[in-house]
Amino acid sequence: MKLADLPAELQQRLPAVDEALERRYRPVYEKFSDVMPVEEWLTRLPLVAAINDLKAERDAVVMAHNYQTPDIFHGIADATGDSLALARMAADVDAGTIVLCGVHFMAETARLMAPDKKVISPDPMAGCSLASGITAADVRALKARHPGVPVVAYVNTTAEVKAEVDVCCTSGNALDVVNALGAPRVIMVPDGYLARYVAERTSVEIIIWEGRCEVHERFTAEEINQFRDESGTWVMAHPECSPEVIDASDYVGSTAGMIRELKTRRPPRVMLLTECSMADNVREAVPDTRFVQPCNLCPHMKRITLEKTLMALWAGSPEVEVAEDLIAPARRSVQAMFELTAVRAA
Ligand code: 13P
Ligand code: SF4
Repeated sequence: MKLADLPAELQQRLPAVDEALERRYRPVYEKFSDVMPVEEWLTRLPLVAAINDLKAERDAVVMAHNYQTPDIFHGIADATGDSLALARMAADVDAGTIVLCGVHFMAETARLMAPDKKVISPDPMAGCSLASGITAADVRALKARHPGVPVVAYVNTTAEVKAEVDVCCTSGNALDVVNALGAPRVIMVPDGYLARYVAERTSVEIIIWEGRCEVHERFTAEEINQFRDESGTWVMAHPECSPEVIDASDYVGSTAGMIRELKTRRPPRVMLLTECSMADNVREAVPDTRFVQPCNLCPHMKRITLEKTLMALWAGSPEVEVAEDLIAPARRSVQAMFELTAVRAA
């Protein structure tokens, strides 16, 4: 969807870019002016301003994942974070509507955690290769093959899958969740690499489902080694990367974990083995750090744009629905994650 595709009524709401508007949003733009030319920003600015004005009218908050583009992340989001933080924050939202700028499983999780709220996704087709890599029938078959073994599902799954498992986890707490279960064997779905990452750090035997993140599986240890020779390059990887990449990295953690570590360590040079927008979003917090490539784009995250967000907020749709009979069991798995890791969700 391009700006010209917005309905005429909505186009009329877009403010003209004048000096006052530019001045009002200058502190926002300064956070990512290194990665977006001013000419491009000036085409984004009316959308950003219109969304922020409309949020108040619609009693809505915008929650954005760390992989959203900086115009969304810094320009319109009321709350940002990794999957764990977004799920937690959804449970605490006061506004009547949540606009979730992230992929579909994140919007669905927000729906589970805030069942009395309206949850809107700017593009419900924003999928995830992990979430589409396993079905509820697959989980039932696994349970039949391994009776009595608890099943841990990465939050990157559909509500149908969440409803079948014992507990969810995110990249930020997978190891804690597995250890807290106190079971000798655990089934982990759907990310085979996250499961291996956990298996190497626990005495619990892990039964692995071989799903993959199509973005993180593309990183290689060779790419790391190419940059290793250059002095002071600190390498941070997401646990969805392959074991060889994880072994070659200095830090492994969720997107929020990476941000925390970066702010504390403030390395002179860093390589983030994760989605490209992470570096664009966090660089303002660590101005003395240089970010070196490589990075990979998530095509699903990139389906979310300012145009679609404005359209969705204005129309109050598409709403994210979860079948009535799935809400309680799927929510229970997310809630069990919070309880097991002693974090209050709601
Ligand atoms: P985080 O929970 O670490 O933000 O990861 C979500 C995700 O989809 C990573 O690819
Ligand atoms: Fe899914 Fe990978 Fe995209 Fe994250 S980066 S949303 S795991 S496809």
